[in-house]
Amino acid sequence: MSENQKKIWVTGASTGIGKAVAEKFAKEGWKVAISARREELLKNIAKDNNIFDYPLDVTDKKKVDEVFKKILEDFKNIDLCIFNAGTYEPKLEKEINQEQIRRTMEVNFFGVVNCIKAVENHFKNIKNGHISIVSSIAGYRGLPNSSGYGPSKAALSNLAESLYFDFKKYNVKISLISPGFIKTPMTDKNKFRMPFIKSPEFAADKIYNGLIKSDTFEITFPKQLTILFKFFKILPNRIYLFLISKLVKR
Ligand SMILES: NC(=O)c1ccc[n+]([C@@H]2O[C@H](COP(=O)([O-])OP(=O)(O)OC[C@H]3O[C@@H](n4cnc5c(N)ncnc54)[C@H](OP(=O)(O)O)[C@@H]3O)[C@@H](O)[C@H]2O)c1
Repeated sequence: MSENQKKIWVTGASTGIGKAVAEKFAKEGWKVAISARREELLKNIAKDNNIFDYPLDVTDKKKVDEVFKKILEDFKNIDLCIFNAGTYEPKLEKEINQEQIRRTMEVNFFGVVNCIKAVENHFKNIKNGHISIVSSIAGYRGLPNSSGYGPSKAALSNLAESLYFDFKKYNVKISLISPGFIKTPMTDKNKFRMPFIKSPEFAADKIYNGLIKSDTFEITFPKQLTILFKFFKILPNRIYLFLISKLVKR
């Protein structure tokens, strides 16, 4: 192994986008630490020579700290973190379900906060590094039947902007990944047609190129859907609410 080998930590890497991202970085020669709760799935992915499994639940703050300490011991350094672990239960989002909303915020938002807190001192001390947060275009504006997921992603996007300024002083980069529909176990639960849906490998390529080959703050894909959602973002409330109400009625 070369001394200059780059090192990455990916959470939510047992399936879907996180798994594809871990495999893409490994293929590009990076040494990859992967985390999620399902140990067997992680072990299987870690059969690749460049991938190493570190199971955790992102809601367990103490465990997150312990795991990052262990990764640092093993890897000696980490250049990039992609905090991607997330949850979505469409069936439970049709009505206000306080437990579900709390659980979604706990995993999607506070899970990322726990991970960022765990790596904060390391990156600030070495005055280098890059933390990327996986949000969603679903966080751009309020959507129907999304009382937990959408708000959790909106909070993440705002968090990324806020931390961008705070970490910049330490030469630590914060970036945001806002995917459209990607075919994963998460979206397999959706009953509606998902326009322009792409594979996890497509997402992994976009994420790799966005993080490594460009200096952008936000990585979005696929283009066709993200252009539409960026347009929604700048619409006045009255027009946005009218348009989406019409679409939902159809
Ligand atoms: N698919 C899409 O269309 C889409 C679009 C926009 C954004 N996203 C975001 O992309 C990320 C990945 O989603 P995906 O589509 O790839 O779905 P996925 O296949 O269901 O992956 C979710 C990952 O998060 C992990 N996870 C869930 N709860 C966790 C917890 N408490 N602690 C640690 N890991 C946990 C899961 O592993 P374990 O169950 O083993 O813990 C799994 O590895 C999510 O943040 C999602 O919101 C997805």
